[in-house]
Amino acid sequence: MSGAGRQAFDVAVIGAGAAGMMAASVAGQRGLRVVLVDHAQRLAEKIRISGGGRCNFTNIGTTPAQFISQNPDFCRSALAGYTPRDFIDLVERHGIAWHEKHRGQLFCDDSSEAIIQMLRRECDAGRVSWRMPCQVLGVDKGPGHFSIATDGEPIEAAQVVMATGGMAIPQLGATDFALKLARQFGLKVVEPRPALVPLTFDAEQWKPFGALSGVSLEVSVSCGQGKRKTVFLEDLLFTHRGLSGPAILQISSYWNPGEAIALDLAPGQDLAQALLAAKPGNRQQLDTALAAIWPKRLAEQWLATAPGQPGAMRMADIPDKTLRALAQRIHGWSLVPSGTAGYRKAEVMRGGVDTRGLDQKTMQARAVPGLYFIGEAVDVTGWLGGYNFQWAWASGVACGRAL
Ligand code: FDA
Repeated sequence: MSGAGRQAFDVAVIGAGAAGMMAASVAGQRGLRVVLVDHAQRLAEKIRISGGGRCNFTNIGTTPAQFISQNPDFCRSALAGYTPRDFIDLVERHGIAWHEKHRGQLFCDDSSEAIIQMLRRECDAGRVSWRMPCQVLGVDKGPGHFSIATDGEPIEAAQVVMATGGMAIPQLGATDFALKLARQFGLKVVEPRPALVPLTFDAEQWKPFGALSGVSLEVSVSCGQGKRKTVFLEDLLFTHRGLSGPAILQISSYWNPGEAIALDLAPGQDLAQALLAAKPGNRQQLDTALAAIWPKRLAEQWLATAPGQPGAMRMADIPDKTLRALAQRIHGWSLVPSGTAGYRKAEVMRGGVDTRGLDQKTMQARAVPGLYFIGEAVDVTGWLGGYNFQWAWASGVACGRAL
């Protein structure tokens, strides 16, 4: 990509991912001289791998309720200013075919590469200059401008947009640079953690369930108590190290170390009533009976871990009390994960730059005029399902319009 020499710019956008390209294109098309800087060899790797290569680029059901933040109202203004419909219009103007897959999630028909090229063309339309690959080493504020130290030529810009994302997937070049810079300028940071991530268990604790690896079923999963209780109805996947699948990725964003998660392995059913009704004169083994509603492997292996190992018993011989207790355990299986699979397996980072130090309409740091934070670097974390990109677009546009 072309070098930008020693020129000074109106705006330097650091990080050419989803939010950075959006902000740069909007600002550039408003006539500002914008430079976009990224240390990656390939442009927008996270967009490329997203949605299994088809980029779940938004969710038509987006509301502030699908975002986690210590300041839940912060995202309202940006989300209202740039909606999923606005992004769909952009996608359609570029002739990109899309489809709705599941629960409002929109994907490209062909490849996520189409979204990257679309954003590239939008940046070209705004005459955005590129520095890539170019690592930003530091940012300092002087009188009337920022000085940006890089592993190449330094850059000067009147305003700086931090769009370096979160720490998920460091193997693709993710860094905590935005958080370091925020702290350097005196901004607070909400403790970052891996989110939308598989949950893991101690090897000894998980031994009995290791044989279930690959089994998948719809569950209801919850964590927290009272007003803090959060519930998702989604698919669960057993793995060698623990639990994954959409249900677990979703709840992982709410889970705190040491807390239990509760799984209902037969959501929407009254299992106690069903088992007691099916019991009289029933010569079937319990695991065979349960295989009518569960994957067979789950019925056999999971029951082998239940107290008294009732799986091999004939239905008619099992005391009512045992059946009731079993149903209760199936509807409320409580587990305490030992941790998460970490940033290497996480889709996003939760936490980030504390939004209480940012202006919700512009994303500008209140205490540092000219410095902006957008996208995943900010303490706004979406659910699984296209919400994180919608936040990246919306916060990028809010900032791009305000620069
Ligand atoms: P993003 O990570 O996109 O961009 C940050 C950029 O900054 C990178 O290009 C990086 O190289 C650069 N950078 C970092 N440090 C730097 C430095 N010091 N100097 C220069 N450059 C630097 N979301 C969704 O809504 N739908 C989906 O389908 C998916 N799927 C998905 C799959 C997988 C496997 C992952 C890991 C994530 C997703 N996501 C997703 C989440 C989504 O990808 C994510 O939230 C957005 O890409 C965040 O956009 P940002 O622009 O904030 O950061």
